[in-house]
Amino acid sequence: MKKERILVTGGTGYIGSHTVVELQQAGYSVVIIDNLSNSNISVLDGIERITGIRPDFVEGDCTDIDTLRKLFTDYPGIKGIINFAASKAVGESMQKPILYYRNNLDTLLNLLDLMGPEGVKGIVFSSSCTVYGEPDVNPVTEKSPIKKATSPYGNTKQISEEIITDVIAAGAPFKAILLRYFNPVGAHPSAEIGELPNGVPQNLIPYLTQTAIGIRKELSVFGNDYDTPDGSCIRDYINVVDLAKAHVIAVERMLTDKSEAPVEIFNLGTGNGVSVLELINTFEEATGVKVPHKIVGRRAGDIEKVWADPTYANEVLGWKAEASLADTMRSAWAWQQRLRERGVM
Ligand code: WQD
Repeated sequence: MKKERILVTGGTGYIGSHTVVELQQAGYSVVIIDNLSNSNISVLDGIERITGIRPDFVEGDCTDIDTLRKLFTDYPGIKGIINFAASKAVGESMQKPILYYRNNLDTLLNLLDLMGPEGVKGIVFSSSCTVYGEPDVNPVTEKSPIKKATSPYGNTKQISEEIITDVIAAGAPFKAILLRYFNPVGAHPSAEIGELPNGVPQNLIPYLTQTAIGIRKELSVFGNDYDTPDGSCIRDYINVVDLAKAHVIAVERMLTDKSEAPVEIFNLGTGNGVSVLELINTFEEATGVKVPHKIVGRRAGDIEKVWADPTYANEVLGWKAEASLADTMRSAWAWQQRLRERGVM
């Protein structure tokens, strides 16, 4: 049975592109809209090399509602939306709050405005563990308190969740599933797609692999004076393909009316907290490649430690993170080597 058409905003981005692959392999027809502000159109080639299907693609900015209106006209019958399109670097958001609030919130408001009139049944929203702020207790569950965001990025995720909840409570004719990611890492096992931020990477793994291959001289570890066993921050690093698979399950759940509430929230993590220094060590052991690194001062906006209790997603979605951290580090390294082979970096 031919499955529905899904709109993936930010679909040439890191998590978006991996999700497009899983959607296509599950039989969905995919339309991507992306402004290519933090991704490259060559990602479409990688997706096609994996699945044999080139997704429909619109280069555009979701903060412009007329662009979205035209997309719905050009690609009729969209039944689900996965919204990845957002700026997402914690550190950068401390320097550019207006860019983060305008980009992340205007995008969402435009989508919500159009979903009802366009007959879209549900939206999967890319949320984040940053909504928990600095948790008092780890692991965090979906019922853990939402703490005051420690960065504009995290605040845009909190506000977005509230906007979606309010719009649906006001009677909007669609459902929502909010997926709170922990730290997505790694690359597709084919090494055809992976994380490819423009410019100097803001987040850990791309900077780590670019250091390992010699593009960057040394990885700076932002602080080793935290209240953790080795002093460096702790996160829940989840394989990006495992994460992508959860999105297909969420779309399926809404389109087949399995949702148990108009808005459902799930933590997507492994349940394992890993420190920065432990991650570096895991990478070195898994790949045999050394990562030159030094301890520097803390980064503004960083959470000390946060990791998931993924029980609810495991039990209700029937989803579980499968990949080992070692395999995930090997996938990140294979991707970095492929980029070198292609002369990309
Ligand atoms: C991880 C750890 C840094 C870079 C991410 C995403 C965000 C959201 C939440 C999904 C921290 C340390 C980093 C470096 C370092 N994900 N670090 N040196 O800040 O946890 O946020 O997860 O919504 O979009 O960005 O991720 O990779 O920036 O940092 O020591 O060069 O690595 O201090 O402890 P973060 P990150």
